[in-house]
Amino acid sequence: MDKLLKLKYLYKLKEAGVEYFEGFESKDENIKMPNELEELKKICQKCTLCNLSKTRTNVVFGEGDPNAKLMFIGEGPGEMEDKTARPFVGRAGKLLTKIIENVLELDRSKVYIANIVKCRPPNNRVPTIEEAESCKPYLLKQIEIINPKILVCLGKTAFMYLLNSDMPISKVRGQLFEFKGKKVIPTYHPSFLLRNPSAKKEAYKDFLFIKKLLEET
Ligand code: URA
Repeated sequence: MDKLLKLKYLYKLKEAGVEYFEGFESKDENIKMPNELEELKKICQKCTLCNLSKTRTNVVFGEGDPNAKLMFIGEGPGEMEDKTARPFVGRAGKLLTKIIENVLELDRSKVYIANIVKCRPPNNRVPTIEEAESCKPYLLKQIEIINPKILVCLGKTAFMYLLNSDMPISKVRGQLFEFKGKKVIPTYHPSFLLRNPSAKKEAYKDFLFIKKLLEET
């Protein structure tokens, strides 16, 4: 695990009054995950690693082409996603689907869509670092199995938890980053675009860039 995250965990423990913690182990280093997407989904559907499992209706594992070259990573399921067990099916999802179809000129079924956390945070709050870290092994294994060429982080939360960066999304959007040999492009979250339609112009540029990269790979 990244040193900065370990440190954040330790500060959280300190805040909670823990003074000494014998045998501290990070959760993600010892978890064995299957190498098959359907098997991984079955394990994920039974997950109780964090508190979000207590309030979820369904686990939203992710969906799409298991051989996709392009993978989207959102923040976490909302109300509709929690009800249907499918990612990005609410208002933001409809906008994302429109962008995929109209700007990337792809069918939604040809990409893969996942989230940082697989269970809905109550009232759609931002997932905590503990929730994101508990869930990260599933996402990392999804990325490993699907092996996309390009990862698109939708919004600050996805970018922050994938790349351990707290840069503002307005600064990093449309730029090229790297994660485990894959190209990473952060852009605005579709929910943000619904609330701030004037940002659609910049998002459009980002998606044209993504389209160009996709054509080159
Ligand atoms: N917002 C997200 O970040 N993910 C979803 O699946 C839906 C809305």
